[in-house]
Amino acid sequence: MNINQVYQKDNLELLSEIKSEIIDLIYIDPPFYTGVDYSEFNDKWDSMNAYLQFMEIRIREMHRVLKKTGSFYLHCDRNAVFELKLTCDRIFGKENFKNDIIWNVGSVSGFKSQVKGWVRQHDIILYYTKSDHYTFNKQYLPYNEKYVKKMFRYRDENGRLYRKRRGGKQYLDENPGTPLGDVWNDIFSFQTATRAKEYVGYPTQKPQKLLERIILASSNEKDLIADFFCGSGTTLVVAKKFNRNFIGCDVNPNAVELSRVRLKEI
Ligand SMILES: C[S@@+](CC[C@H](N)C(=O)[O-])C[C@H]1O[C@@H](n2cnc3c(N)ncnc32)[C@H](O)[C@@H]1O
Repeated sequence: MNINQVYQKDNLELLSEIKSEIIDLIYIDPPFYTGVDYSEFNDKWDSMNAYLQFMEIRIREMHRVLKKTGSFYLHCDRNAVFELKLTCDRIFGKENFKNDIIWNVGSVSGFKSQVKGWVRQHDIILYYTKSDHYTFNKQYLPYNEKYVKKMFRYRDENGRLYRKRRGGKQYLDENPGTPLGDVWNDIFSFQTATRAKEYVGYPTQKPQKLLERIILASSNEKDLIADFFCGSGTTLVVAKKFNRNFIGCDVNPNAVELSRVRLKEI
């Protein structure tokens, strides 16, 4: 197994070839148990049990290849999140569960908005670490203009904006913004932004900004990042952009081809 490669095979096979505890960050976006046959992959299962068996055996292997300081993000939605949470608790230990991140995918239109009941509008990303010692680089949302105007009302002799805090000055340019929580409202999804430049049309493709946030928070330069259900290669593209090493895997040859093309463009 070489790094900075995309493999076309069943991820279970690739995982069996990977040494234990060498990966810093794993993000996966597997089939969600939607019952839909997408053009590029099938998400129809005989039963929830069959789906969970498929996932458990793979997540166990991912846990094995993750470094003791590593992090694991499992992207899913309400179709199987409650079952997957129990599976991950068993594998990682409940004490290593850190967050269920709510990603607001934006207001959907068309038939999805016609459902009886609340319109479904979010995905869930389960975030685990392998131990108590893990990389986390806090991420911030820059303050909006209104907040800056209201809070940073003073200007010093060099023109720098500041606010008064405990008798001292707190400068705007030394403040990164509001620490990000576990509800993400600021990242569009391709369900609502199909004309975005980065969209290559892969079903359920994720936006780079989502992966950017995860990768910047849970890895450092030169770290090794893996996505074992890489689809169009979004995770790998962002990893490369931010000077991380990567391993990608997808069973679908079109996905692997797409990932390779996208990686070459960087
Ligand atoms: C939801 S898509 C991933 C989309 C991706 N995050 C993106 O941004 O394009 C899930 C992917 O898992 C792949 N897949 C399903 N079963 C697999 C397996 N056993 N091994 C490797 N890949 C698999 C499918 O081919 C599909 O491309």
